[in-house]
Amino acid sequence: MSERRLNFPDGFLWGAATSAHQNEGDNRNNDFWAWEHIPGHVADQTTSGSACDWWLRAEEDFDRAASLHLNALRIGVEWSRIEPEPGNWDSGAIDRYREMLKALHSRNISPMITLHHFTNPLWLRDKGGWTNAQAAEFFARYAKRVAASLGDLCRMWCTINEPNVYAAYAYLLGSWPPGETNIQKSFVATRHLTYAHAAAYHAIKEIQPHAQIGLVQHMADFHPSNARSWPNRWVTGIRSTIFNWRIVEAVLEGRLKFPLGLGKLRENLYKSNDYLGLNYYGRHLVKFNPRSLATLFAEEAQAAAEVAWPEPWTDREIYPEGIYHFIRNIHKRYRIPVYVTENGMADADDTIRPGYILTHLAAVWRALAEGADVRGYYYWTLVDNYEWTEGWTTRFGLVSLNPQTQKRSILRSAELFSEIAGENAITREMVENYAPAAMAQVFRK
Ligand code: FCB
Repeated sequence: MSERRLNFPDGFLWGAATSAHQNEGDNRNNDFWAWEHIPGHVADQTTSGSACDWWLRAEEDFDRAASLHLNALRIGVEWSRIEPEPGNWDSGAIDRYREMLKALHSRNISPMITLHHFTNPLWLRDKGGWTNAQAAEFFARYAKRVAASLGDLCRMWCTINEPNVYAAYAYLLGSWPPGETNIQKSFVATRHLTYAHAAAYHAIKEIQPHAQIGLVQHMADFHPSNARSWPNRWVTGIRSTIFNWRIVEAVLEGRLKFPLGLGKLRENLYKSNDYLGLNYYGRHLVKFNPRSLATLFAEEAQAAAEVAWPEPWTDREIYPEGIYHFIRNIHKRYRIPVYVTENGMADADDTIRPGYILTHLAAVWRALAEGADVRGYYYWTLVDNYEWTEGWTTRFGLVSLNPQTQKRSILRSAELFSEIAGENAITREMVENYAPAAMAQVFRK
């Protein structure tokens, strides 16, 4: 029988993901703000400035989210606002977050809070950042304070966003603060981030036993650029194991395996994760480069033009199969709930994005149909926001933003996503209206 509609489970969360620094604006007290103000660091020489102005008026975008039928939103809280000096807590910042959470509840939007999304208070930077062995303790103290202050308004927590991406950019590739290019340091930072996750997990559980706490992992689908070349296959496998899986293994199996550690069982890491947050964007081709010890002899190859993302991320391929494979693998290995905590693409013209959303959601649906426990999908992102060292050059929003005027417009992709969320399903009519070329990929039979 041919599928007429792809129904999602009752209670499925339809959300968008955002982050504190990229959305709030005026986050002067963290390391990324300092970094973006140094000439040469950001592609278009812009700064985050007032970003989406959420510190002052997030509620206006919450209205938009509600009118788009979203029933969930992933927001960040900014450590440097809440704890501007070690051990000093800013009650004004906490009050503002309480106000935001109440605003979400009053719109029937269920909040998920990210505690760490790439930025650090300046005081942590000055103490050596994530290479400092005490960082995990500092982070757990902050997490506990946040849960104690906001826990009555939020049950879903993301501890650390993409520790693998953060450690790579900040400590290996040198493009984010502190700008280190040292593989050893990137492993040390990764270890400390993993410990920090576990310490925060236990700290939150102590005061909020029913909290749902998860790590958010970026999984990139690495493929050898030439599958017949064994060195290509070899470095691709290593990259995938270390980047995609090592941290996940640590917080579920309790062992930090090589090269992060020696695989000893650590009680506090074991099962320190109630669900896995999956951030998935696309496929990357990898080839062997004997001269690149720093990246473990792997480098990325150019994606084929037909499937490549638009500028500036042309090395990424649109590859919906990848999200299906990761969800299936997570399910097979760990049988834990998955939230797609980020999936999306930068497409300023909004021409490719409707097809991207439909094909990726169809892939999520297939994993669900085969038994995986996916509880929600958060599109990255609601409104165009400040994209780290890409500045304002990449536009991921369902709603576009002119950061100078703060003017927004609702894109077709937003209308599509709203229809999907409203129906809790994908229908053939939606595909016909928004991305007819994707029909055979969305409806298989
Ligand atoms: C993810 C990050 C998010 C944003 C998107 C495009 O890796 O978590 O902040 O940069 O990519």
